[in-house]
Amino acid sequence: MKLHTRAVHIGDRKRVEGGRDWVPVTTPIHTGTSYFYNDLADLDRVFGKEMAGQSYARYSNPTNDALEELCTSLEGGAGSLACSSGMAALHMAVSTALLDRRRVVLAAKLLYGATLNMLVKAFEPAGVEIHFVDFDDESAVAAAISEHRPGAILMETIANPMLRVPALDRIAALANNAGAPLIVDNTFATPLITRPLEHGAAIVVHSLTKYLSGHGDVLGGVVVANQEFYGPLRDISRMLGFVLGPFEAYLAMRGIKTFPLRMERQCANAQAVATWLASHPAVDRVYFPADPAHPDAANIQRLFEPGLFGAMVSFEVKGAAREQIFKVMNSLRMVVPATSLGDVHSIVLYPAMSSHRDLAPKHRARLGIQDNLLRLSVGIEDPADIIADLDQALSAT
Ligand SMILES: Cc1ncc(COP(=O)(O)O)c(C=O)c1O
Repeated sequence: MKLHTRAVHIGDRKRVEGGRDWVPVTTPIHTGTSYFYNDLADLDRVFGKEMAGQSYARYSNPTNDALEELCTSLEGGAGSLACSSGMAALHMAVSTALLDRRRVVLAAKLLYGATLNMLVKAFEPAGVEIHFVDFDDESAVAAAISEHRPGAILMETIANPMLRVPALDRIAALANNAGAPLIVDNTFATPLITRPLEHGAAIVVHSLTKYLSGHGDVLGGVVVANQEFYGPLRDISRMLGFVLGPFEAYLAMRGIKTFPLRMERQCANAQAVATWLASHPAVDRVYFPADPAHPDAANIQRLFEPGLFGAMVSFEVKGAAREQIFKVMNSLRMVVPATSLGDVHSIVLYPAMSSHRDLAPKHRARLGIQDNLLRLSVGIEDPADIIADLDQALSAT
């Protein structure tokens, strides 16, 4: 089945052997935390992993099982774990990858701010060596792998917020040669645009909060692992318990059914908005993966589904300092100035104030994140309305 079809059907209508001959068409919310069996020997078998079944909600839950099966199918993995947030999913991914490997992580310099912070403020103090390298420079990645011999490698498909697209397939080959699992945060791209496991990654992570759920009402994450890492992932999850609640799992699954349709529309809208922004007199520079002059155009062509470039657009407002940026954002009447992305509504975020706030200004500048940079997550509205709102707000500078 194609991805659009799987998004609608996979995970639902699970029959329990020996159960009733009807099932709900869509998976309901299972709130029970523990499970009763007529024969205790069956519960014993479930605990011992000799028999499939439920025992305790920290281990698994039928609503989460359905969502996990769906995410596994969309990303082409061996299995998934639904987590309480995207950050919890990233933490689980790194912890799993390092279980039996050198406690050294090689990470891309350009990552979501909280991911950078998690590495240096949570993993490093716990004794994990962290090294950052420019993932747009393949020879630098190769050199860093031989110098540091990492136990895990971490990158984003479309790096936040400069929208660079590293050569994930070639980096995966380097990682696999070095025996270091490549973890890819595919939140910005989604499996509609590219599936990192098909390109050699070992583990894929999503913030479910974004495109997959898509309606601004779920905080969640998911780790999709290949065969090697799925078992260890579930084993440590049973102890750590960063799992998603069943209400959120239900909402995320409901969102995913329409995610390919929403994403296609968002990608098309983003392309229209990026083209319009590029010729706006108040805009200095636009960053968007469809730009033929994009520094990673060859990677984009090789890795992305044709005609889909994501729905994030970053742009610099000419000569604007923080006050002018605030003025532009305060002038918006429809596009929402808020912290998130991937929702049905367009959202604009100021990286220097929010996603990358904790980085020193010098560090931000080195990453190319200027104080006049805005990051726009384009929604499903009529593109003419998005453009009209941006136009009137930009005239406030
Ligand atoms: C690329 C990326 N990864 C991970 C996260 C973290 O996700 P969550 O907010 O669900 O913890 C975010 C949040 O903005 C993100 O943009």
